[in-house]
Formats: sequence, structure tokens, C-alpha cells
Amino acid sequence: MENKGFGAHVLALPYPSQGHINPMLHFSKRLGSKGLRATFATTHFIYKTFQPEPSESVQFDTISDGYDEGGFYQSESIHDYLTRLEDNGSKTLANLIMKYKELGHPIDCLVYDAFLPWALDVAKQFGLVAVSFFTQACAVNFIYYYVHHGLLRLPVSSTPVSIPGMPLLELQDLPSFVYDNGSYPAYFEMVLRQFYNTDKADWLVVNTFYKLEAEVVDAMSKICPLFTIGPTVPSKYLDNRVKNDDRYGLNLFTLESSINIINWLDTKPAGSVVFVSFGSMANLSNKQMEELALGFKGSHYYFLWVVRASEEAKLPKTFVEDIGERGMVVNWCPQMEVLSHKAIGCFFTHCGWNSTVEALSLGVPMVGMPQWTDQTTDAKFVQDVWKVGMRVKVDENGIVGREEIEFCIREVMEGERGREMKENAIKWKGLALEAISEGGTSDKNIDEIVSKLIH
Ligand code: UDX
Repeated sequence: MENKGFGAHVLALPYPSQGHINPMLHFSKRLGSKGLRATFATTHFIYKTFQPEPSESVQFDTISDGYDEGGFYQSESIHDYLTRLEDNGSKTLANLIMKYKELGHPIDCLVYDAFLPWALDVAKQFGLVAVSFFTQACAVNFIYYYVHHGLLRLPVSSTPVSIPGMPLLELQDLPSFVYDNGSYPAYFEMVLRQFYNTDKADWLVVNTFYKLEAEVVDAMSKICPLFTIGPTVPSKYLDNRVKNDDRYGLNLFTLESSINIINWLDTKPAGSVVFVSFGSMANLSNKQMEELALGFKGSHYYFLWVVRASEEAKLPKTFVEDIGERGMVVNWCPQMEVLSHKAIGCFFTHCGWNSTVEALSLGVPMVGMPQWTDQTTDAKFVQDVWKVGMRVKVDENGIVGREEIEFCIREVMEGERGREMKENAIKWKGLALEAISEGGTSDKNIDEIVSKLIH
């Protein structure tokens, strides 16, 4: 990276998973493009195994999560991973900060994922400015804030739940850690701990844009001031002001050749393909995979389905051969490039926050099939607030059946409701562009942070 009169040096520390790396990496590039020196620190394991693509606006460095040989999959449990990440991460983050001081490029500001509140303590030991980066939707953050401060007591005893700025929420609209008591206790503790020391942070930034969640942002800001800075998707797809920013640039999965995928999409009529992805972590049952396969087959639409290598064995035996030209199954794809292709008619998604924001930013309507964590709340907003999609119904055995899958695809791909969803999606695309373009709400917020760091 060229050394050109930097105003300040920002160190970005993401939680080490795909869905957290992507938005923070884009945010770092944006800060870099606005004249700051930006260093992005991921774990030794991720850095050496997946090798980030060099960037003009950000340089890379590493900390240790205590699992330098295998990362998360080397740990014995979520609890063990998070404990070692905190112990080793705190020490190696401090070392990194000292290294840059010795090199004559001292760190001025730490942007850390709110999942890692210990990083704020390290930043303050060194007297750094600290920016807490909330990766997920503002609505989700506000629900956790409510739980953390005892404003929403658990287990939830009566529904619907009323939280300022949001529609009334049924149990299944809350994040799964909140309604599914006792599931993933270590992750639940982590999402609540996001708020234990935020009073020491200089800024809280949220990966959303103002008009998308205006009422929630207004309500939360009254008791917990925050800045919206999204969408954090590659700039090529919105304002195109970050140089050469056409992809995130760090894949934790082996990317299939984009040429094959795009060539296949090129042969399909506009709006005729269902793009299916459940993100980087979902783990579906064999039965659910079978229903999905039969549902896609039965829908009579073309489909492009991302099935990660670890999920592949769950597909019905001869499925891939049987579908022929109707479908394409890949292990990992360049999602933004795919979603922006004119052949895509709808996104069948788990409603991970990045996937949701990417679809909104590209004007693609959705079928939402949330799996866990924040995805349930995102799906509620997709259907009932932004009205850009519909959420599948789960049967009494916890499965989404093939008929339901076919039905939802048809609803979104054709007919009156689908047309309205598409129109709404195009509206949100315009508002996403407005927010991040020069003078937009997110752009102004980012400029305010940058100008305080420069002076
Ligand atoms: C989880 C949470 O649900 C999410 O809300 C949180 O913020 C991050 O962790 P995850 O499964 O990672 O979600 O999904 P998502 O947030 O959608 O992120 C997946 C990312 O991987 C997206 O940026 C998407 O573009 C990318 N992706 C996905 C690819 O690049 N290729 C693929 O084939 C699939």
C-alpha cells in the first residue's frame, strides 16, 4: 500500500468469520479511500490459509485466536474458542499496537467488532480512539440491548413483544438465542456482552443505513447514540467511489470459477433463476435438504444453489445429475456478482444480515428461510417492514416442506405480490445508494468520524 500523507492510522479487528469479515473489510477500504491508513487484522490461521487479495486502500496483519493451525474447527467447543480468542486475541492485539508504534506508524483508532468487547479494553489501555462496529441489523442490536439491560426479561412470558421502533414481534421474530432458551449459551452471552463496556467507546457504528431502519435507529439513538455507516457492500455495486472495490476479497471457502457460473447465468432469460444460499454457517438436516431439492425441482424455475462442501453429502443421491440444465449446484460463489446478474429473479436466503443487505442493495426480492441467530428477525423485516419478500412456514416437525418451498418461490417470482416485492426492492436499492453516496446519511457519518481522526 502506498504511503501518502495519511491522516490517522486505523486498525480494524473483525470477529473471525465470513459474515463479520466482509462488512468490516469493506468499511476499512472505505476509510482507506477517505485518506486514512487502514490495517485489517485477521487471525494467523485465516490469513495464511485463505490469503486476502491485496487492496489499494487497506493492508493486512494478524492476531492470534489461539488456534493458529485450524481456527474455529480446531477448538473443542464454542465456549473454548471464544475463551482462547479473548485470551490470545487481547495479548496479540496489544503486541500489534506496540509493533506499529515502534515502526513509526502508531495506531490512532481501533475499529473492533462488537462481538469482541475485550478489544475495547485493550484500545483504552493504549489511549486509542475506539469504534465499536455492530455487524448486525440495528433492530437485532436493540433487542439484545433490551435483554442486556433487563428491559426485556427472559424467558419471554407474553407475546407479542413491543420494542420501540419495531412492529410487534412474535417469539419466532426475535433472534433465536432469545426465544430458544438455552440454545448456544456461549454465543448468547457474547451477543449480550456487546454492550457491557460500550460507554467507553468513542463511537458505535451500525452496519445499516438510516432509511432502512429509521424508526429503530431513532429509538435506539435516544438511549444509546450510534452512527449508521452501511451498506458495507463492495462499492462497485453502489456508489463506485472506492477504487477497484468489486468484491470483498477474503473468502473462507473455495470459490468456484466465476466464469462457469456467469456463463451458465448468461444462457438464462432475465429474471428466470432462483439463487439459493444459506450463508457461511447454516447446517441443515438431511430431511430439510431433501425437501429443498425436491421443492426447487418442482418449482420449474432454473436455480443456482450454493451448497457448501460440508453440506454436500446431504443432497439426494443423484440430484445433481438428475436436474441437468435446470439447476447448478456450487460450493461457494461470488455472491454479489451472481445477485447482480439480470438472470436472477429472486434470492432464496437464510436472511443472514449481509445477504439481506446485499439483496436490498441490488434490488432483488427474497424468499426468507431463517435458520438461527439474527436471521429470524431479519426475515420478519424482509417480509413485514420492507415488504421485499416472504418468509417460509415451518411445519410441526420443524421442516419446511417441498410444497411450501414451491409456493413461496412462485409467489415471489410471478404474480401481483411478487411484482410489488420487486418494486419495493428497487426502491430500497435506490435508498441504499443514496445513503452511501456523497452527502448521504452514511457517507456523512463516515466523514464525521474521519474528520475527527484527521484533526
Ligand atoms: C451470520 C449471521 O446470520 C449474520 O447476520 C451475521 O451478521 C454474520 O454471521 P452468515 O451465514 O455468515 O451469517 O451469512 P451472511 O451474513 O449472509 O454472510 C455471508 C457472506 O458470505 C455474504 O457477504 C455473502 O455475499 C458471502 N457469500 C455467501 C459468498 O461470497 N458466496 C457464497 O456462495 C455465499
